[in-house]
Amino acid sequence: MSFAGKKVLVLGGTSGIGLAAAQQFHTAGASVVVISRDKDKVANAAASVGDNCTGETLDVLDMEAMRALFAAHAPFDIMVNAATGGERATGPFAKMDLEGFRGSFRKLWGYTNSVQAALPHLADDGNMVLVSGAPARKAPPGYAAISTVGNAVEGFCRAVATEIAPKRLNVVSPGIIDTPMFAVDGAARDDFLDKATANNLIKRAGTADEVASGILFVAGNPFVTGTTVDVDGGMLLP
Ligand SMILES: NC(=O)c1ccc[n+]([C@@H]2O[C@H](COP(=O)([O-])OP(=O)(O)OC[C@H]3O[C@@H](n4cnc5c(N)ncnc54)[C@H](OP(=O)(O)O)[C@@H]3O)[C@@H](O)[C@H]2O)c1
Repeated sequence: MSFAGKKVLVLGGTSGIGLAAAQQFHTAGASVVVISRDKDKVANAAASVGDNCTGETLDVLDMEAMRALFAAHAPFDIMVNAATGGERATGPFAKMDLEGFRGSFRKLWGYTNSVQAALPHLADDGNMVLVSGAPARKAPPGYAAISTVGNAVEGFCRAVATEIAPKRLNVVSPGIIDTPMFAVDGAARDDFLDKATANNLIKRAGTADEVASGILFVAGNPFVTGTTVDVDGGMLLP
């Protein structure tokens, strides 16, 4: 799939799934802008992706800054938002701090900001991709907040896709993916990833590249919109 001549903005493009997507779009010929909060991560990511990749510093929760940044890069063809947005609240819902539960929605607010801010500057045949997560439809105990946010992301996509056609909006839903989002190292990390994927059809954590290839698929296929593509090792089935 060629993205030659396309301009792609990747929010959360400095780590994990977003960085892998930036690298794959770049390899496929696109010019890419990687965007996140930390200026060192932005500089390192832009340099690692290569020529024809630049970086910008932005908090996805800052709508005015986002509008200005998107206007400065207009027009563009594809906007990917893989930013986590902030902390993720986990643990039994009955005992959960509801501030933490509400705080998990920063991911959704970052996504809604980016879709609204991108629309005026998106090419007529352009498209946008968001990232939900398998717990949206199969939540283990302790994942109520993450599941609720993921469902909101997928519902938002279906609703907004009907309003913006022929521009397109899709979601990719990863399972357990080995990225820096899980801030555990060494044997504890292996143990966590093994246990979290033990009941999957494919019994291992996925890679950021495997999810990124799903992002490029929906971005590059002009007949795909308003849908969620699962890249989760069969996590939803057993
Ligand atoms: N990894 C998994 O197993 C998994 C599973 C299901 C769903 N997901 C979803 O996949 C997406 C990507 O996750 P990942 O695993 O690639 O995470 P990651 O490696 O931690 O990367 C997160 C990226 O988001 C950026 N970011 C976070 N908050 C931001 C903010 N407020 N404004 C701007 N940028 C922000 C981070 O950069 P800065 O720190 O520089 O801002 C970083 O570039 C997320 O939506 C996550 O919920 C991941």
